[in-house]
Amino acid sequence: MTAGVALLAPENVRAIAPYVPGKPIAETARELGIPEADILKMASNENPLGASPRALAAIRGALGELHYYPDGSGFELKRVLAGKLGVKPANIVLGNGSNDVLELAARAYLRSDESAVYSQHAFMVYPLAVQAIGARHVEVPARDFASDTEAMARAVRPDTKILFIANPNNPTGTFTPWSALRALLERVPPRVMVVLDEAYGEYLPDELKSPAPGWIAQHPNLVVTRTLSKAYGLAGLRVGYALAHPEVAEVMNRVRQPFNVNHLAMVAACAALEDETFIEASRRMNAAGLGQLRAGFERLGLGYIPSHGNFITVHVGAAEHIYKSMLAEGVIVRPIAGYGMPEHLRVTVGLAEQNERFLAALERALDRV
Ligand SMILES: Cc1ncc(COP(=O)(O)O)c(C=O)c1O
Repeated sequence: MTAGVALLAPENVRAIAPYVPGKPIAETARELGIPEADILKMASNENPLGASPRALAAIRGALGELHYYPDGSGFELKRVLAGKLGVKPANIVLGNGSNDVLELAARAYLRSDESAVYSQHAFMVYPLAVQAIGARHVEVPARDFASDTEAMARAVRPDTKILFIANPNNPTGTFTPWSALRALLERVPPRVMVVLDEAYGEYLPDELKSPAPGWIAQHPNLVVTRTLSKAYGLAGLRVGYALAHPEVAEVMNRVRQPFNVNHLAMVAACAALEDETFIEASRRMNAAGLGQLRAGFERLGLGYIPSHGNFITVHVGAAEHIYKSMLAEGVIVRPIAGYGMPEHLRVTVGLAEQNERFLAALERALDRV
């Protein structure tokens, strides 16, 4: 007998389809009855190099401080970020991962009688954040899997309060030229908050680096979000941030939990942000791995979406079947039917030998179809 208490939750909350994360290593090992060390997880866009060694050393040095609450103002991390990015601490909102700041933007600005615009194949957290508020969704068809910024500008309605766009986008890896994003910002009315998600920005080559933080002074409705989960290798600690006009940052901070970022995460982030050697190594490894995966897909005759992230999305046809077949060998990738792409799989770039194992498992899985 069900207690019926779920029915007390509002309709919009009951309609939420929970986020499905990459399948965990421990769960897969249990199910297959093989050691965790034999599992290869390339499903959650994590950094195969691990975490920055400087971050790890900083964490060890902070273990004696865990009985204190963290600094709720994030003074030191904001100081490091401000110095690195050429912004003021008042421009920064810290989050428990960038997922947190994406939600803070929605909670701070979006009302249930308003709408949010985002692209088809956009990161799943945008619809989830909108749904939690009970606001309306405007999903704009993508063009060749990429965000169609002109169509997104046209899709803004009188009730639109927020527009989400990622660059590069996950799960497609597509990159939108900065000129097109600038044009979008110029076209969107200033009453619409534009949230630009740069979770994979560190992987862009120097000539494509984001100019967006420099646009905030002229466009105070722009919020740029970033994370330490990807290139900095700190996904498990959960730390991300938003760059925004001080007035916007102040409003977002009002809906933030007072201690939303934990102490070790902040200590590690400060050290990781200054570890240029590690970031450079992450970038080099990623570029080489993308090349290896592209070459492998070409050899197998598979189409793929050119990626600017630390993952790549490949057309395999019977994706669910191939996903399960690879899983049985202990290789975890990500099916993305939930993103409207039932014939593709997304794979995170690994180390050379991991990419090799993945490609071999993929080839065997394709032969079994
Ligand atoms: C486009 C995009 N934005 C944001 C995130 C959130 O990452 P985190 O909360 O770990 O910062 C992800 C994670 O996969 C992502 O792909």
